[in-house]
Amino acid sequence: MRAPIRFALLLAAVLLGGCRVSPPSKFETHVVVFTKHHITVRNKSQRNPMAMNAQNLAAGKEAFGHYCTACHGLDGQNTGVPFAETLSPPLPSLASADVQRYTDGQLKWILDNGISPSGMPASKTILSDDERWSIVLYLRHLPPAGSLGEPAIYSH
Ligand code: HEC
Repeated sequence: MRAPIRFALLLAAVLLGGCRVSPPSKFETHVVVFTKHHITVRNKSQRNPMAMNAQNLAAGKEAFGHYCTACHGLDGQNTGVPFAETLSPPLPSLASADVQRYTDGQLKWILDNGISPSGMPASKTILSDDERWSIVLYLRHLPPAGSLGEPAIYSH
């Protein structure tokens, strides 16, 4: 192969390789999850003051439907969310073991403060304390994946 062609191929490989967003390795993912669970996300021991009953759960589902579904889907498991896989880090399923291992207090902390610098926003200023606790209830009782269909904003 002639040198200029070889150089062009090499350049292309470097450029393409450099632009590709490679998924984090298992080790990196593990470190990030560990750090969040043990250091970043606080408020481990606070209990949910809202009793688990049909009314509070319905309130949580309703609030979740307004403020969370654009990113997490109606079921909290990314159903119908077009960019779920392309975000970095990818959107977690809220039913996954890593998310469910948080205590109620930690889930509330995540809602209060968001997770910086990812796209997970804080909702302290837009939702009341009761709404956020009711959402924590809903997160503990998510429906089966796909059972609620897609968020209306994405269906055409
Ligand atoms: C603009 C998109 C967006 C909205 C709106 C949003 N989230 Fe998230 N959420 C994310 C992203 C991105 C992550 C991944 C964050 C990470 O792993 O660092 C995430 C992660 C989470 C996590 C798991 C955190 C972890 O450590 O794995 C929970 C719980 C969560 N969101 C709940 C909610 C709830 C409840 C709402 C509504 C009040 C909501 N989110 C609204 C984008 C969003």
